[in-house]
Amino acid sequence: MQSRISDRDPDSADDHDWIRRFIAANLPVLPVPNIPEIRLHKAGPQSGLRRLAKRDPQFGSPYWAHYWGGGLVLARYLLDRPESVVGRRVLDLGAGSGIVSIAAAKSGAAEVWAADVDPYAMVAIELNAAANNVSVQPILADLTKGEPPDVDVICVGDLFYEAALAKRVTAFLDRCLGQGIAVLIGDPWRAHLPTARLRLLAEYAVTDFGEDIGSMRRSGVFTLEHKSHR
Ligand SMILES: C[S@@+](CC[C@H](N)C(=O)[O-])C[C@H]1O[C@@H](n2cnc3c(N)ncnc32)[C@H](O)[C@@H]1O
Repeated sequence: MQSRISDRDPDSADDHDWIRRFIAANLPVLPVPNIPEIRLHKAGPQSGLRRLAKRDPQFGSPYWAHYWGGGLVLARYLLDRPESVVGRRVLDLGAGSGIVSIAAAKSGAAEVWAADVDPYAMVAIELNAAANNVSVQPILADLTKGEPPDVDVICVGDLFYEAALAKRVTAFLDRCLGQGIAVLIGDPWRAHLPTARLRLLAEYAVTDFGEDIGSMRRSGVFTLEHKSHR
């Protein structure tokens, strides 16, 4: 599972470097609310992310620069229950900043891959892993279109926010379950969460997307149950 941003396009190494310097200079490394074990490069009002958008017409929503309820709750869970990943090979699907990957690595996972479709997330994951002294391998790909990867656990933080995506992710996770891969989901009860298929493992109150620590929201950590064939 090796696909780094700079492998895709010989010209992209310079870009990668520029983005790395931009993030390092403009997004300070801050402790994550309620997860003092992890520090992340975090966008704030002064970060000037618009400059990235101006430079690159392909620039999408900078999910990788913010906290999400699903990732926060799943990271907290992995740190509280390291037995869920210790010694295992873990894939973080839709990794964003890499918060869940970093929690898995800190909890003793044998290997951690962080997959996302956003090239900027690859850079953020690399920087955030380094800031936390852990090893995480970024993968730039939409793995939901392929076969189950060779891992023991798939972690999914906040990936059920759009109907079509949620459908594709659920179908992929079903194929993974069929191969004996464990699935852990963290989510603040977004609209397209497949709730009927989930078993709640834990709930925490966390911030969601915002900077505003006052807007706490209960979010769950779940396992995905096998499809019932009744
Ligand atoms: C709401 S953010 C959550 C990020 C992180 N998991 C967290 O909870 O903090 C969703 C992330 O999923 C990524 N994403 C969307 N579709 C994807 C796909 N098909 N495969 C991998 N990543 C995807 C986005 O680029 C974004 O970084």
